[in-house]
Amino acid sequence: MKTIQLHNGVEMPQFGLGTFRMADGESAYESVKYALSLGYRHIDTAQMYKNEESVGDAIRDSKVPREEIFITTKQGGHSTVENMEKLFDESLKKLQTDYVDLFLIHWPNHDKTINQQTWKFFESLYEQKKVRAIGVSNFQKHHLLDLYETARVKPMVNQVECHPGLSQVPLKKYLDEQKIALESYGPFMKGGIFEGIWEEGLGKIAKKHHATIPQIVIAWGLARGIIMIPKTVTPARLEENFKATRINLSEKEVEEINSLNRGNRIYTDPDNSPWGAYFE
Ligand SMILES: NC(=O)c1ccc[n+]([C@@H]2O[C@H](COP(=O)([O-])OP(=O)(O)OC[C@H]3O[C@@H](n4cnc5c(N)ncnc54)[C@H](OP(=O)(O)O)[C@@H]3O)[C@@H](O)[C@H]2O)c1
Repeated sequence: MKTIQLHNGVEMPQFGLGTFRMADGESAYESVKYALSLGYRHIDTAQMYKNEESVGDAIRDSKVPREEIFITTKQGGHSTVENMEKLFDESLKKLQTDYVDLFLIHWPNHDKTINQQTWKFFESLYEQKKVRAIGVSNFQKHHLLDLYETARVKPMVNQVECHPGLSQVPLKKYLDEQKIALESYGPFMKGGIFEGIWEEGLGKIAKKHHATIPQIVIAWGLARGIIMIPKTVTPARLEENFKATRINLSEKEVEEINSLNRGNRIYTDPDNSPWGAYFE
């Protein structure tokens, strides 16, 4: 499995399994376990997904050594240090591990001082080696600039909405300069890749590679150096998506897909999100 080297030297598998809306219990357990049997070595979860326990059970029962699996989890981060500590310890317990590979602030708060305080807590976990890498999610450039005012450690990853309708070319360029890896979420645009200009543009390239449209979207992200974590609970799709790691797109094909960008935000806008105003 190809890896991306984060700026602190940690190797992160470039392809993994997303688990948002994977119901806790049989669905998450069976999907993660089957994925690991196929060769997936990177699982993306979050406290908000409420499935960390099933993810932990699946990892335990997979018999794949813990150190071979890259686990990401996320925390809202809009809370007191005491609460964040409690939630982090709960994540470790549910995941049945004594460290996570990557810990992300799930959403930026609209109040930059809250993000700065959360980041201090993340830095302390990193310094105590309870997490191998720390990062953010849904951060725009201005959120990062605010964080830098007080940060001692630069985020290693920024997980953001990124797909053919929102290719994030300017943000990727900025993150490359900052040596922050871009991780994509929502690669299939909630089904939008099967419609309109996206179906047409991606379909042509898929035909050439004897591949499916979702496979081409995964291969496009990988060719751009982006970390891809498509979610599926369907065994045949787990196989299909995994096989996309073998597809190599040309620079011209990558550019053709980039040109399908219409600035389509399908998920919540981080600057206008209700979570950005939340604190408990
Ligand atoms: N940081 C954040 O704020 C944030 C937000 C959203 C997501 N994420 C992360 O990113 C991951 C991926 O995003 P996502 O789950 O929102 O969306 P996604 O991966 O773009 O799409 C998942 C949907 O696509 C379907 N699908 C998967 N593979 C397919 C294939 N080969 N052919 C046709 N349909 C296919 C799945 O159906 P079935 O499952 O029914 O097969 C599911 O309905 C999440 O799971 C989560 O880990 C993070």
